[in-house]
Parts: sequence; structure tokens; C-alpha cells
Amino acid sequence: METRGITQEDFAQIVSVIDRWWGGPTSALAHPMFFHELGNDALVVEDDGRIVGFLLGFVTAAGCGYVHLVGIDNDYRRRGVGRRLYESFTARALSRGALRMKAITTPGNQGSLEFHRALGYRVEMVPNYAGPGRDRYVFARELSSG
Ligand SMILES: CC(C)(COP(=O)(O)OP(=O)(O)OC[C@H]1O[C@@H](n2cnc3c(N)ncnc32)[C@H](O)[C@@H]1OP(=O)(O)O)[C@@H](O)C(=O)NCCC(=O)NCCS
Repeated sequence: METRGITQEDFAQIVSVIDRWWGGPTSALAHPMFFHELGNDALVVEDDGRIVGFLLGFVTAAGCGYVHLVGIDNDYRRRGVGRRLYESFTARALSRGALRMKAITTPGNQGSLEFHRALGYRVEMVPNYAGPGRDRYVFARELSSG
């Protein structure tokens, strides 16, 4: 498997599989802006030329490596693809001076909760994080303390 920066050509492929990989409508979160503007902060993992996972992230001016969206092909879950993408993005964020990492997920996404816990993220349920009645798990990890 190989990790590399996303290309414009990857956009069509990811948009065509994202709802299936997520088990529901998610394509709105994969706004074209991310594919056009994030550069190599957006990553894919390929196996034998086939995209099996992607991560859309960016580093904020305040030094936070923020993961907006991550998705792994159902057939490739629990094979370390998500961990690999997070490690690559974290290394990129660190090299650009990031001090912390952050990601969010919706309540009920137990797989994402366990995944972030396994990667050493703190978890907090924040009421109304995404607007009234829209609670979110907020994951955070300081980089300075390892
Ligand atoms: C969450 C997700 C990204 C994890 O990707 P993955 O490639 O399967 O994760 P990894 O194989 O790197 O897992 C690393 C560790 O996280 C934990 N983990 C990952 N998925 C888990 C799950 N479903 N249940 C429990 N623990 C899990 C495990 O400790 C795992 O290590 P192990 O397999 O050696 O036990 C993937 O399931 C996915 O794409 N889900 C749908 C989209 C989504 O929810 N994205 C997150 C919100 S942006």
C-alpha cells in the first residue's frame, strides 16, 4: 500500500464511493473545495492502483492539524489504513508547526470513537457543537506531549 497526496482525478472516484464507505449520504461533506485547495494535506492510500482510503485535513493558523473527513473502503477496514493516513497527516502537520490535532464525529459512530481512542485522542461529547441539538464527539490530541 502507498500513501500519497490527493489529485483532482481522485475526486470523481472518491465521490462515487463515499456514501457506500460511510453507509449513508456523506458526499456533501466531500465538497470540491477540499480537493482543489488542500494540496497534500488531503491524502489517499492506494493498493495496487486502487484507492482504499482517504483523509481530508488542513492545518489551521492557530496550529491545529484538523481532520475534516476520513473514510476507508469497507473491505480494507481494520488493516491499519486509517492509522496510516492519520500518521502521515500528523507528520505533515507537525513539520508545519502544529501543536495539536483535532477531529469530530457524530454521536453513535462507535467505530470512529474507538478508532480515535486507539490513536491516543481524548474524547469529549460537546452539546450543540454543530448547532442546536447537534451534539458531536470532539477528539483532541496534543502533539508536544507525544
Ligand atoms: C473509523 C475508520 C476511519 C477506521 O479506519 P480503519 O482503517 O479501519 O482503522 P485501523 O485499521 O487503522 O484501526 C486502528 C485501530 O483503531 C481501532 N478501531 C478501528 N476501527 C474500529 C472499530 N470499528 N471498532 C473498534 N475499534 C476500532 C482498533 O484499535 C484498531 O487497531 P486493531 O485493528 O489493531 O485493533 C473506518 O472504520 C471508516 O472509514 N469508517 C467510516 C467513516 C468514518 O466513520 N469516519 C470517521 C469520522 S470522520
